[in-house]
Amino acid sequence: MGCVIAVSNQKGGVGKTTTTGALAAALARRGQQVLAVDLDPQGNLSFSMAAENEGVATSYELLKGEVTARAAIQPTAITDIIPANILLSGAELEFGGPGREFLLHNALRPVRGAYDFILIDTPPALSVLTVNAFTAADKLIIPMLSDIFSLQGITQLYDTVSYVRNHCNPGLEYAGILLTRFAPRTTLATEVRGTAEMISSELDIPLFHTAIRSSVAVTEAQATQRSLLKYAPRNIASKDYLALADEILNKETPTHGR
Ligand SMILES: Nc1ncnc2c1ncn2[C@@H]1O[C@H](COP(=O)(O)OP(=O)(O)O)[C@@H](O)[C@H]1O
Ligand SMILES: [Mg+2]
Repeated sequence: MGCVIAVSNQKGGVGKTTTTGALAAALARRGQQVLAVDLDPQGNLSFSMAAENEGVATSYELLKGEVTARAAIQPTAITDIIPANILLSGAELEFGGPGREFLLHNALRPVRGAYDFILIDTPPALSVLTVNAFTAADKLIIPMLSDIFSLQGITQLYDTVSYVRNHCNPGLEYAGILLTRFAPRTTLATEVRGTAEMISSELDIPLFHTAIRSSVAVTEAQATQRSLLKYAPRNIASKDYLALADEILNKETPTHGR
């Protein structure tokens, strides 16, 4: 059964989409079968992976139950993806009624067995879409900009996770907080890591050992719709995303009893 990981933080611009795309590519590089799911009406992940998102089945039709996951999956040069477009912004109004939290969970069930990892990119809000991602997920990655202020916004997210654990998905776990756009060897970096460690132990959320360093190649790769790992293979951010994939794989693979 594939491990479903939601990448979430209600703040915009913290590296959710970047992490979903680059981690998907890094896991695929490590021989994993990966499906990326775009659950953000902005469709940034779909764009950066050069997926078609007009006139095709998207996560919107998937949640509405109009298409199956298999019909919505598109292969790309990076990994398979279920794309999204602006229609998904109607979700809050359209997906009412009982069971609205389980739409994605149920829709992905038939394809879970075909993948080692399913990574879900989420919108910058704590909406019905976010709750659907958390309900479908086994684990949660929380990207955080490497500044003190953004680290402090985490308590709101924490409350949503508690809600989902109590009502929809008791098995939801934190994979960890991921520091993004990290500038090592600065005074701020030391402070940020210190604060992150404090929050991590206070809230009992692991902190990834790997932090993703800042590099302009990240934005360049996205703008030209190419995989960061192919666009700039020796770049620091590429290396960091591969290290993150290895950190996740080492945790996922039981080493005992082999
Ligand atoms: N490691 C990084 N180095 C430099 N720029 C980055 C890095 N990660 C993300 N960015 C840039 O920051 C912006 C926001 O990232 P994005 O992944 O779109 O955040 P979110 O999905 O949380 O809104 C984008 O322009 C992206 O290219
Ligand atoms: Mg995004």
